[in-house]
Amino acid sequence: MRCLVLFLCVYVGSVHNAKVLSIFPMHSHSHFTLGFNLLQEMAKRGHEITFISPYPQEKPLKNLRDISIASIKPALDELKKELFRLENVSPIDNFRYMSKMGRAFTELGLASEEVQNLLKSNETFDLILIEHFFNEAQFALGHHFKAPVVLLSPMPSSILNNHLFANPSPSSYVHNLFAPFTQYMTLSERLMNFYYDTMMTIYQYYDELPAQKRIMEKFFPNAPPFEEILYNSSLLLMNSHPSFSDPVPHMANIIEIGGYHVLPPKKLPHDLHKYLNESKNGVVYFSMGSILKSHVLTEEKRRCFIQAFSKLKQDVLWKFDVDIEGLPPNVKILKWAPQNEILAHPNVKLFVTHGGLLSTIETIYHGIPTIGIPVFSDQKFNIAASEKFGYAIKVPFDEITEEKLTYALNEILNNPKYKENAKRRSAIMRDQQVKPIDKAIYWIEYVIRHKGAHHLHSAALDLEWYQRSMLDVLAIITLTVFTLIYILITALKVVFNKTPVKRTKQKKQ
Ligand SMILES: *[C@@H]1O[C@H](CO)[C@@H](O)[C@H](O)[C@H]1NC(C)=O
Repeated sequence: MRCLVLFLCVYVGSVHNAKVLSIFPMHSHSHFTLGFNLLQEMAKRGHEITFISPYPQEKPLKNLRDISIASIKPALDELKKELFRLENVSPIDNFRYMSKMGRAFTELGLASEEVQNLLKSNETFDLILIEHFFNEAQFALGHHFKAPVVLLSPMPSSILNNHLFANPSPSSYVHNLFAPFTQYMTLSERLMNFYYDTMMTIYQYYDELPAQKRIMEKFFPNAPPFEEILYNSSLLLMNSHPSFSDPVPHMANIIEIGGYHVLPPKKLPHDLHKYLNESKNGVVYFSMGSILKSHVLTEEKRRCFIQAFSKLKQDVLWKFDVDIEGLPPNVKILKWAPQNEILAHPNVKLFVTHGGLLSTIETIYHGIPTIGIPVFSDQKFNIAASEKFGYAIKVPFDEITEEKLTYALNEILNNPKYKENAKRRSAIMRDQQVKPIDKAIYWIEYVIRHKGAHHLHSAALDLEWYQRSMLDVLAIITLTVFTLIYILITALKVVFNKTPVKRTKQKKQ
């Protein structure tokens, strides 16, 4: 009997098989990966996962049920074509574009038949895990299913999420995530940083959030006011870590889990394994990620890469979606590449990358130096940071020439400092008290156990912005000081002006 009671206590106290609903609504494979790699691990640990995303599994996994919103893809493909035009737009326009895209996939996702069926069902969940990326209307899923909400941010602390938890992020030392600065800003950079922060905040409050509010009211007509939903999440899991992002302030309910998506490398396919093992002088791996396709790589740029690669004694593995005729013998095209496994191979010397955040994290994890070819959004910052950490050279996409590539390739392959710096970063990422994936799951289960984590909400959330920045207190102090000075001056005037006042009076008489 005692054993049974003890067992029940332990069993009830921990959460083994919670029902978790998760939505990663972006039409982007890297966003999907951030969700899938976490949820797959939770499913393995016994939780019952329902996963809304545009990328359902071909073979069903145990404990993981897909709700496919692949139907949103065609409509978004049109918008995605604009991505490459973003290279030279301002950070603010970049933000606007993302927000526009966000509205589209937020609405399409909620409107899809599969999600509508789920909303109409009587299913219940213990927790809702939502990827937060320009989709605030979807936070109402928490209210709909009467379950606490945990958010996961695919990128570090930013204008997008800081306001949700009143997280401090002064423009003086927290750089705007869409701007190519690092945390050490000159005066003119701080000025620009302040400008970007202010403009994006204004845009957010007067355009982005009202639009999301309309979407929420359309799909959840009985929900409480948008503002209540917006600021009611329990926790934010943040894809950041000081090994690759700036050390910045985080409230108690913002948990850094950066690096969690990197899985232990699986076995490489036989031919690739052989190729990597047998390469005499090492391998350069070149991939521009999943969003950037061949049709945007012009003939001229293609030639720059091919010429620069042909002069290397190293071999080059190039992940590309089409074959290229007449390649030099040391260059091999891969249409599909297990990136994590390739980067884990000791014979890989260099990674030529667009600097997407996931690639950046994987690179650091495996300690590989990079040539960064940033195109849009946070890639510029990621590569600016990689350069600052001393393991990368940047070659912007529109400035690519054979000479620049050759210089960067030779510099990194022949100067050992890049490899050493990459290894140093890797050591920082790997030296953690708890593995990031365990940390992420611990905090999700924590919210389930406590049925929400509002005890972690900072009082700052209840303050207005001017109260939070002490402007009201400063106003009172200023007023008091000025009043005192005024009284003092008046008093002094009265004392010292006594005689002159009398004298003038006397003159008049
Ligand atoms: C806020 O979240 C808590 C639990 O996490 C829930 O009990 C409450 O109903 C939520 N409020 C709204 C307005 O959704």
